[in-house]
Amino acid sequence: MKIAVLISGGGTNLQALIDACAEPNYPAEIVLVISNKADAYGLTRAKNAAIPCKVINHKDFPSREEFDKSMDAEIRSSGAEFVCMAGFMRLLSEWFIDEWHNKLINIHPSLLPSFKGIHAQKQALDAGVKITGCTVHFARKEMDAGPIIMQAAVPVMEDDTIESLTARVLNEEHRCYTESLRLICENKVRINGEIAEILP
Ligand code: GRF
Repeated sequence: MKIAVLISGGGTNLQALIDACAEPNYPAEIVLVISNKADAYGLTRAKNAAIPCKVINHKDFPSREEFDKSMDAEIRSSGAEFVCMAGFMRLLSEWFIDEWHNKLINIHPSLLPSFKGIHAQKQALDAGVKITGCTVHFARKEMDAGPIIMQAAVPVMEDDTIESLTARVLNEEHRCYTESLRLICENKVRINGEIAEILP
């Protein structure tokens, strides 16, 4: 399956997807990386892997929807059939979310529905939870909501800092994201109502 990946930053999840796609039997191919930030290190990762990339600066557009339409045009012309958000720090318009209904997934560094939005690891530390984690889910118009494909739990240690917890959660993100995409490509994820069921 041909996929496009949307990024804004360092792109370690993008790297995990690039590495997975390089494995012989992995059923996805990244055909386009889009970043809304020209200095995102993820762009270097894409270039190193010879993946076409585009910078589309949201500030160049009068509205969220105009920005999204420009991304949509690039995604369509790349031949991508599926979109992965990987540290993409823009809210998408309802138009884009509808356009890519059930063909758009996101990764979030908490066990949703807890700790939506930015700084999820800090939110977890501030709340004193003993377990947090990550979630891969289909995108819906509400931020950080939608049918959950996979989650992994990560223990919070007494001496954790935001950095140490973030690193431990990221390890699980990389595993969950690549595994979720594999299941989707293999048609093993069925959406029933607003529940994603994993087929054997
Ligand atoms: C990850 O924690 C992801 O869950 C969140 O943003 C971060 C991106 O990290 N949405 P990276 O750019 O993939 O390294």
